Amino acid sequence: MPHALCSRRLTSPTDKRARAVLDDLQRRHLLRQAPAIENRDGVHYLVDGAPVVGFCSNDYLGYASAATPAPRSSDRSTVGGAGASRLICGDLPIHREVERQLASISGCEDAVLFASGFQLNVGVLPALLRATDDVYSDRLIHASMIDGLRLSECAPQILPHLHAPPARASEQRRHTDAAASPLRWWICESLYSMDATRHDPRQLNAWTAAGHSLYLDGAHDFGLFEGGAGWTQANDVAVDLYVGTLGKAYGAAGAFVAATQPICDWIRNTARSFIFSTAMSPLVADQLLARVQHVRGADGDERRATLAARVERMAELLELPIETAIIPLAIGDPTLALSMSRELRACGWHVQAIRPPTVPEGTSRLRLTLSAAHTPAHLEGLAVAIKTLYRRANHPLRLATPP
Ligand SMILES: Cc1ncc(COP(=O)(O)O)c(C=O)c1O
Repeated sequence: MPHALCSRRLTSPTDKRARAVLDDLQRRHLLRQAPAIENRDGVHYLVDGAPVVGFCSNDYLGYASAATPAPRSSDRSTVGGAGASRLICGDLPIHREVERQLASISGCEDAVLFASGFQLNVGVLPALLRATDDVYSDRLIHASMIDGLRLSECAPQILPHLHAPPARASEQRRHTDAAASPLRWWICESLYSMDATRHDPRQLNAWTAAGHSLYLDGAHDFGLFEGGAGWTQANDVAVDLYVGTLGKAYGAAGAFVAATQPICDWIRNTARSFIFSTAMSPLVADQLLARVQHVRGADGDERRATLAARVERMAELLELPIETAIIPLAIGDPTLALSMSRELRACGWHVQAIRPPTVPEGTSRLRLTLSAAHTPAHLEGLAVAIKTLYRRANHPLRLATPP
């Protein structure tokens, strides 16, 4: 009986270690617990049984709770499981069609689908980077990219946030064959999700124009620009590899990397999280295909315009230079951040406190995210609550600035 087995292990060394780890996190006020969400309908839901308006999802266009679009794939065999990895027997027409659409939105020749952005970055980066390459990564890249770099052979140089790698090429050895030639890589994001910061597109383009390689993760703005594209495409930034996620503005799940066909085939042949993992569920892929049509078209345009209006309104209400749907409000102390988040929750606003290790020590913050599903009244109510809390804590209301 499984119960008997579990109870026999209650005092095992593994269980004791688990308790010690949790106790330590609790003592340092860093213990995390997933809020129990129920009855979600757009930005309205219950947290631990109490109704709230949520300001912490990445559902920027309000698609996550939208009625499931009618499946439109021609592959009517759509079922729950792909059955195997893509390279064994899980490569279905629906996967290839979604990849074609995403490649076209990204302005690239080809794209490779993954079940999530995390799985993508921890698979693709180690597959491509070599020990002999010069690799530069921004200090604030996402955990999945950090882990991808850790799994790779390379020794990355960490750049101060938003700094470009040094312009002068390091000594390049002459190689007669391209496969052995070392590359210089810049690993960065188009919108840093804890700080709402962006690189100067001219710097990114200067890097690729100099013949170097650019790996750009556009997770937090893919879908928010014309045609369902991201900031990268809207600003004509030339990339070698573009990463987009589908669980944020697209309101579904999964991720893709877009590039030339040889780069994509290189990934299909070498990225371990692609090769050794069951292909995306055809049900999810089918939903994605329908969602892509919505995000690309007039429905997406309407939601993007609504989101832009909400961003502008929140800037007015909080009197802060807010330019994106991500609004990090500075606090510093993790305990104060947590207590402010709890007070907001008690008033019916769900706003998460972001603490180390997600952000550096001393930079805890409240992080709001806006969605096209918010109404002006939601924004007005939250702005009043935030201003009151900051005034009461005698804390200046300002945006968190990256270290
Ligand atoms: C820049 C970046 N890349 C990748 C991911 C992971 O994507 P996913 O949630 O699809 O695993 C995130 C998640 O927030 C992210 O911010």
